[in-house]
Amino acid sequence: MFYKQSILFLLIVVFCDNTLAKIAPDYIKPCPGLKSECLQKNIQETIPSFVKGIAAIGINSSDPMHQDKIELELPGGLKINFRDGVMTGLKKCVVESASYVDLEAKLSLRCNLTIKGKYTAKGRVLIVTINGDGDAKVKTPNIHFDSKLIFEDVTRNGVVYRVVKDYKVKYEFGDRVSFVFTNLFKGNKELSEAVLAFLNENWKQVVEEFGKPVVDTIIRLTFDNIKQFFERIPKDELIVD
Ligand SMILES: *[C@@H]1O[C@H](CO)[C@@H](O)[C@H](O)[C@H]1NC(C)=O
Ligand SMILES: *[C@@H]1O[C@H](CO)[C@@H](O)[C@H](O)[C@H]1NC(C)=O
Repeated sequence: MFYKQSILFLLIVVFCDNTLAKIAPDYIKPCPGLKSECLQKNIQETIPSFVKGIAAIGINSSDPMHQDKIELELPGGLKINFRDGVMTGLKKCVVESASYVDLEAKLSLRCNLTIKGKYTAKGRVLIVTINGDGDAKVKTPNIHFDSKLIFEDVTRNGVVYRVVKDYKVKYEFGDRVSFVFTNLFKGNKELSEAVLAFLNENWKQVVEEFGKPVVDTIIRLTFDNIKQFFERIPKDELIVD
């Protein structure tokens, strides 16, 4: 008798434990009714933890964010090879607004980002021709992102997930972007420094010509992580009435 009860008790414990096993980390706090005010606050509080990545469900760190290699060949003929890239700063982004209506979410962020790495570049930049090989550092203070995410529900093995079906991101540089590129002209320090000063003075044209492929890569890597989050965490852990 006592034995049978123990087995029953054990089964109940195991069963309940199983159904209650959460995949979402404890710092994820759902917002009842998905109210904007709650979303803005909770997303803001979640960012510093989320950017560290969630290894158990295949989400990479996004601050620091690593990218081994970016190769760009721009219409003007400039070839840029960027490697050992590391971006920091996402953990301090400020959430300016958040909303979620039907299956569409909007999120506005303002961030100070720093990208470092090694580069080689050959070709024309604005009016100068460079042949560089050195260290690169780019700072984008006050970059503003406006993103829109479209969700859809999918069911896998009887579990409903609300996944990101599509997203769009617009961005705007709120302040002067600054560059440090060493050795823009191989072996000619004076010329390298003069061209660097020229690029910094004309930062607006520089980011117009070369900013998009770089920022698009950052957005893609960040959203790969966000998409993975919604692919792996069941809807009922994230959306509550
Ligand atoms: C970015 O840096 C500036 C200057 O240090 C600071 O005033 C601002 O609050 C920062 N913004 C964010 C979003 O961290
Ligand atoms: C995480 O990084 C690895 C190695 O760079 C990559 O293969 C994988 O796709 C990344 N995962 C996500 C969710 O982006």
